[in-house]
Amino acid sequence: MEAPVQEIRDAILADQLDAVGEMKVPQHYRGMTVHADEAEMFAELPSREKDPRKSLHLDEVATPELGPGEALVAVMASAINYNTVWTSIFEPIPTFAFLKRYGKLSPLAKRHDLPYHVVGSDLAGVVLRTGVGVNTWKPGDEVVAHCLSVELESPDGHNDTMMDPEQRIWGFETNFGGLAELALVKSNQLMPKPGHLSWEEAASPGLVNSTAYRQLVSRYGADMKQGDTVLIWGACGGLGSYATQFALNGG
Ligand SMILES: NC(=O)c1ccc[n+]([C@@H]2O[C@H](COP(=O)([O-])OP(=O)(O)OC[C@H]3O[C@@H](n4cnc5c(N)ncnc54)[C@H](OP(=O)(O)O)[C@@H]3O)[C@@H](O)[C@H]2O)c1
Repeated sequence: MEAPVQEIRDAILADQLDAVGEMKVPQHYRGMTVHADEAEMFAELPSREKDPRKSLHLDEVATPELGPGEALVAVMASAINYNTVWTSIFEPIPTFAFLKRYGKLSPLAKRHDLPYHVVGSDLAGVVLRTGVGVNTWKPGDEVVAHCLSVELESPDGHNDTMMDPEQRIWGFETNFGGLAELALVKSNQLMPKPGHLSWEEAASPGLVNSTAYRQLVSRYGADMKQGDTVLIWGACGGLGSYATQFALNGG
């Protein structure tokens, strides 16, 4: 018998993390989706009138088959960022184009090419299952996920994973994102959940923090040094507030 998602959540909230690996994976779960057959629904409208509340659905979707190097995560909290906004207003293009292109890569990637897109590029949760070849993570681990999905089959990305020709943003250019009860990630997206943060606090910073770090601190970005003067545009926002903290701590 499969365990309902609620049973998994209850076990996590009761801190019975060892039990999570024993539970059967649910065949279905609830997730926030957009639908391919609605991709033109805002076609005649200016951007500001495209209302995500009209395009986002709470659907029961099939749990994807778990592939090598992947993890299925029971999501305890997620976050909304601009990827989700772009997807939900079908700008600059419907993300189904990304899923279709990804689907051409391999039979495993074909799982992502569906008439619905489960959105969300952040999560905090507990590993439910791992695929073949995953050694670092096991069911019951409390994790957060960053949003960079890479294949790394070519050497181009071995120095800087953003240069991988098959680099994608999970939940935006791939399916089975974080605004759902379960999510599918590559296990190398996972990091330990900081113990002092709540689920919600742990789920919020991933995408914006990584992006600000990449832009400002990384040697592949601005490579900020002490004493540098930086301009942060929109400093109160997600990226901006992290950029401000990096500048204050590094400058
Ligand atoms: N390429 C990437 O990897 C990547 C990743 C993540 C995000 N992004 C992009 O980065 C941008 C910021 O994302 P975010 O998540 O930080 O968004 P956010 O939390 O909504 O923050 C946007 C900030 O910009 C401010 N702002 C809006 N219009 C402005 C204007 N005309 N002049 C100055 N400030 C203005 C907002 O101020 P108010 O709050 O006062 O409105 C807000 O503080 C988005 O365009 C997003 O698509 C790119």
